[in-house]
Amino acid sequence: MKVLIIGSGGREHAIAVAVAKSPKVDKIYCAPGNAGIAQLAECLDISAMEFDKLVDFAKAEKIDLTIVGMDDPLVGGIVDAFEAEGLRVFGPRKNAAILEGSKAFSKDLMKKYNIPTAGYENFEDAGKALEYLETAKFPIVLKADGLALGKGVLICNTLEEAKEGVQSIMMDKKFGTAGNTMVVEEFMTGREVSVLSFVDGKTIKTMTSAQDHKRAGDGDTGLNTGGMGTFSPSPFYTEEVDAFCEKYVYQATVDAMAAEGREFKGIIFFGLMLTEEGPKVLEYNARFGDPEAQVVLPRMKNDLVEVVEACIDGTLDQIDLQFEDNAAVCVVLASQGYPVSYEKGFVINGLEKFDDKEGYYVFHAGTKQTSEGIVTNGGRVLGVTAKGKDLKEARANAYEAIKLVEFDNKYYRNDIGKAIDEA
Ligand code: AMP
Ligand code: GLY
Repeated sequence: MKVLIIGSGGREHAIAVAVAKSPKVDKIYCAPGNAGIAQLAECLDISAMEFDKLVDFAKAEKIDLTIVGMDDPLVGGIVDAFEAEGLRVFGPRKNAAILEGSKAFSKDLMKKYNIPTAGYENFEDAGKALEYLETAKFPIVLKADGLALGKGVLICNTLEEAKEGVQSIMMDKKFGTAGNTMVVEEFMTGREVSVLSFVDGKTIKTMTSAQDHKRAGDGDTGLNTGGMGTFSPSPFYTEEVDAFCEKYVYQATVDAMAAEGREFKGIIFFGLMLTEEGPKVLEYNARFGDPEAQVVLPRMKNDLVEVVEACIDGTLDQIDLQFEDNAAVCVVLASQGYPVSYEKGFVINGLEKFDDKEGYYVFHAGTKQTSEGIVTNGGRVLGVTAKGKDLKEARANAYEAIKLVEFDNKYYRNDIGKAIDEA
């Protein structure tokens, strides 16, 4: 079969590697892809938001299955556009992708269906938000309702900071229309864990857990980024936490969406905070995490294409989802200066050292093929994943493996997965 993947990051590279392993697949396309994906797939010069062009391509090339990796096209209705033309596509429709596309929607859903989450209020009016904040307890969390590249969340320690936050989100529209509505949320403390799941509308099967490191600097300092590294599984995701979430979070979310007439098919990513009062949902995403996919998919034993097809067909209950009994760590190699400003265009050396290196992966994010070779082309350049029998070994392997690739201005965190030593 022919498979089209939509997206261009490390996550889509990890999806492409998993798809390429499927005996069912003859040819992979990716729009727009990157230099690493191009080694497995034919990359198309079509952006993820050009739905008409993507649909035309899928029809003309008789694509059997399209997998959407990114949030923007999902929230924008790419699945509806493909389905309208009778094309097979994996991901939630627009009315279900709202689970990620609107934080106000997801908070209201959790409240209505008693899914544990932080207390909150939604505001469409900056004046009312400011009035509310006058008597609020600090720290407090402000969230732009819509998609904001993971940057629309502000943790405010004082009323002054919160006032500035309202100004930037709702009045200055720093995150554009994403700030038309703002969620004001109770501040929670605890460990964060990500759990990704496959959903077919009614059945949900969770994958192995993972944890992201969002801050740019060692020791969780510096600015928030798209993610500087991940490890899987999380030792903090215990059987007890799993049992709680099975009972109160996972199926409850799928059932709630169905009850609202918003049947969810695709990936639900649960961002959880393990608080003293028990696990609570921080956020939902409607797609694989990046760089969570880079540690979760390499550990999956199943054929990804088979699982994806079961989700589309509503037969996920017949799939026995299995993960390897090991661990994986992904260290992101970024450009010095990320996430603020950085130079691009430096030649990357050593990529070929990962060819056929069992248990090791170099996932491309911001890379570009030029006449001089593959060069850096973004803030997050590569994600190097290594497996090991446990997290400690996977971590040591990943930090050994990053030495294999070299480029000017290479920057990475030294403590990805370090928290696991405390577990
Ligand atoms: P979100 O995009 O909603 O996951 O928020 C991004 C990050 O902000 C999370 O991964 C947390 O680290 C932090 N965060 C979000 N909501 C809260 C909250 N209610 N309390 C504490 N931290 C939060
Ligand atoms: N790593 C967090 C995300 O993909 O949203």
